[in-house]
Amino acid sequence: MSQTVLHAKGLEKRFGAVVAATEINVEVPEGACLGLIGTNGAGKTTFVNMITGYLKPDEGRITFGSVDITGKAPREITRLGVCRSFQIPQLYNSMTALENLEAAFGIVLLNSASGGWFVSPRTPVPGYGAPIRELAEQALERFELTAYRDKVTRVLPGGVRKVLDIAMAMAVQPKILLLDEPTSGVSAEEKFGIMDMVMGVVREAGTTVLFVEHDMEVVARHADRVLAFYDGRIIADGKPDEALNHEQVLKHIVGHTQHATTGQ
Ligand SMILES: Nc1ncnc2c1ncn2[C@@H]1O[C@H](COP(=O)(O)OP(=O)(O)OP(=O)(O)O)[C@@H](O)[C@H]1O
Ligand SMILES: [Mg+2]
Repeated sequence: MSQTVLHAKGLEKRFGAVVAATEINVEVPEGACLGLIGTNGAGKTTFVNMITGYLKPDEGRITFGSVDITGKAPREITRLGVCRSFQIPQLYNSMTALENLEAAFGIVLLNSASGGWFVSPRTPVPGYGAPIRELAEQALERFELTAYRDKVTRVLPGGVRKVLDIAMAMAVQPKILLLDEPTSGVSAEEKFGIMDMVMGVVREAGTTVLFVEHDMEVVARHADRVLAFYDGRIIADGKPDEALNHEQVLKHIVGHTQHATTGQ
């Protein structure tokens, strides 16, 4: 059995009268790939936000390894090795794809013990064995983004922006990566290819993954475990063939979900 790397225990989050999450108990083993499913408003993003520090749970505890990360700031949690991409990509819109990745590696450098006050594309990143520019070029290649290298990200297609956001999150070499709807806004034809590529890169790096996804085919293809959210609760947690055929999941989720276009 793999070690538990992330443990959410008794999480609850309320927004006024809305209970966005309640009785959330999840243990994530190292190296796992969890698919998070659920109808719009079921609490998936709320769960991701609590794990990554963007929301503080009203109740419950989150531990990463042996560290209690409940309510810590997103920056601190990122530094510990828990990173995320967003339902709506968070990019520097007036900068190119290359510059966005350079900024991501620049932040890694600034956060390192030897990070100085001056950072240029030629500055080596400690522990990465290469300067910022080279690492950014390698990331472009690995995530099949080289064609967009010098394009300002504002003009890039939705799917490319999503992949760039993920590539930037991976710059930190996270132990856990949370992907909030990595294929929303991506055409049905492109979706499978993009997910195969992204999951290939991320899993080769040995990263534990939690991904939110509305397409059950994508979930079945990539997840080794499924968490089904409904009305702020987890109604099923198990292997994909069990969870996707769970009575409550068939009743409330499969065939009822649609991609969200808003939200973080
Ligand atoms: N900042 C907020 N303020 C008030 N209510 C919120 C806030 N964030 C989420 N909610 C509410 O909490 C519930 C869960 O929302 P959440 O965004 O987690 O759902 P989701 O499963 O990610 O849905 P989607 O598939 O549409 O992205 C919803 O009822 C939502 O309206
Ligand atoms: Mg969401």
